[in-house]
Amino acid sequence: MKFFIDTADIKEIRDLAETGLVDGVTTNPSLVAKSGRNFIDVVKEICAIVPGPVSAEVTATDHAQMLREGRKLAKLASNVCVKVPLTPDGLKTCKALRGDGTQVNVTLCFSAAQALLAAKAGASFISPFVGRLDDIGTDGMGLIADIVQIYDAYPAIETEVLVASVRHPIHVIAAAKMGADVATLPPTVLRQMFNHPLTDKGLAAFLADWAKTGQSIL
Ligand code: E4P
Repeated sequence: MKFFIDTADIKEIRDLAETGLVDGVTTNPSLVAKSGRNFIDVVKEICAIVPGPVSAEVTATDHAQMLREGRKLAKLASNVCVKVPLTPDGLKTCKALRGDGTQVNVTLCFSAAQALLAAKAGASFISPFVGRLDDIGTDGMGLIADIVQIYDAYPAIETEVLVASVRHPIHVIAAAKMGADVATLPPTVLRQMFNHPLTDKGLAAFLADWAKTGQSIL
């Protein structure tokens, strides 16, 4: 399973990329606004830090303008993955950008029907938002199960399932059990995944016992 990080915060991206566990990055207009930085500059910087796909979202809503924006974003770096919303214009733009050879992430997916359309439009990634579905009292992970089942039934579908709007490590574990291709994690969730109190307790005990030996490895 690939792990992307879901942030436009350069410091966080640098820190987490150093773990060697980050396969890509996703941003959205809200995350860019939160960073307070210039969008184009941020995308270029992220692409230089992480070699994997870096999702940069268009903000136009009509096909012609979306395509112009997407083509501009695609020129910023070879690992830019243009993000388009799951609308008729977004899918039309997805198909055109895929024809250019550009990676496309179709975002704001909330149903299996939408995921099926994105696959037909040739999306590189489909981003179902599990946390936002949970927030309205529906089953976010149930949607992932449906999409994985549908995509698996058609070997010609190459669209990768990118689990988005992840709120906690349990979402990640559930997605991995279902065979989802990618999860995009807020930095806090990736950090949480390292933690277990028994790891901390066990390490403290090992180090205390080691100190008693008076030895040093180096
Ligand atoms: C990533 O591609 C999505 O934009 C992001 O995961 C949405 O997360 P949120 O629901 O926490 O805003």
